[in-house]
Amino acid sequence: MTTVDLPLLPLGRGVDRASERGVDCPGDLPAASDPDLVARARAAKDALGERVFVLGHHYQRDEVIQFADVTGDSFKLARDAAARPDAEFVVFCGVHFMAESADILTGPDQQVILPDLAAGCSMADMARLFQVEKAWAALAEAGLQDVVVPVTYMNSSADIKAFCGRNGGAVCTSSNAEVALEWAFEQKGPDTKVLFLPDQHLGRNTAVLQLGYSLEDCVVWNPLLPGGGLTVEELQNARMILWKGHCSVHGRFSPDVVDELRAATPEINILVHPECQHEVVLKADYVGSTEFIINTIEAAEPGSSWAIGTELNLVQRLATAHPDKRIVFLDRDVCYCSTMNRIDLPHLVWALESLVDGIVVNRIEVDPDTEREALVALQRMLDLPGKTARD
Ligand code: 13P
Ligand code: SF4
Repeated sequence: MTTVDLPLLPLGRGVDRASERGVDCPGDLPAASDPDLVARARAAKDALGERVFVLGHHYQRDEVIQFADVTGDSFKLARDAAARPDAEFVVFCGVHFMAESADILTGPDQQVILPDLAAGCSMADMARLFQVEKAWAALAEAGLQDVVVPVTYMNSSADIKAFCGRNGGAVCTSSNAEVALEWAFEQKGPDTKVLFLPDQHLGRNTAVLQLGYSLEDCVVWNPLLPGGGLTVEELQNARMILWKGHCSVHGRFSPDVVDELRAATPEINILVHPECQHEVVLKADYVGSTEFIINTIEAAEPGSSWAIGTELNLVQRLATAHPDKRIVFLDRDVCYCSTMNRIDLPHLVWALESLVDGIVVNRIEVDPDTEREALVALQRMLDLPGKTARD
């Protein structure tokens, strides 16, 4: 069996700042049982005033999201971060790759803070730069590199975005994957192929269901196998080369549960995120980013029934906000994103109070070379036409 050199970081010991992993908190966290946490967060935020801008991804806990100046999916938050050049501190309540993107899109004098460095993303960790460079070299050896455009999902580390930037590719999010792929397929003539990183499901769902490619047009590159586990002929015949990565939360939803819910409630609407497996998306009524999911529920008829396949914090918040609609989670078990959930009130209070004391903790800073190349790929995404069609 092939192994990968991922450093093992036992909980509470060690930090790997160059990756999506980090588990230590270098300061004194307030106790989670402190009854004054809400008041402390509010006081610290008030004291900082316009100097601080707090971004909250839709998968964040309620206790954190209440302090967000703006909420959004990863695309909206990237734009929001870029639109506040006056904020000295951007506190990102989300995960590491989002904070990196915010750092790339904000000015050199703005400091981006991730309240807990352990808020990584298992999907982003599935594509490491050395693995992607190996795949790229294999494509060159197969004589195909000149017709391949790399596109990475926002859910990837900054060095993967930089790889795409320097190799003629772009970033996309679940809000604009369709337009980004349309753009990519126009870049190298009629034989263009796309190397899609790191979420095979978003890549497959977009290529097949939105762009009209077939499942046979898609192959999966497994970074743990020599040559990605593919023959040169398979690579030659493919249009979409999908990286073998997935989201551990959205990958859990299964077509069986969709069938069970439809049998029990025939009028139920199934609404899922495109990070779900293709078999689930095929059975769904509506598919889209978290922003699209929220807009769909807001526009839904009172009395309508919905099963939602996305992160549980968001589904619970939607159910609470819409008591006139029947909203259930599309899984038998509870499943929060464990890394999104690392940002809790004690970490937020610690980060904000430290800023009040003049100490910047957990700053996320992308090195200048990576930043320059990643910005090229991010800017290509921000320049896409009609990019907000789904939100
Ligand atoms: P979006 O925010 O693009 O919908 O992505 C979902 C997700 O998994 C974020 O980590
Ligand atoms: Fe990563 Fe999935 Fe969690 Fe999003 S929900 S941060 S893709 S593991």
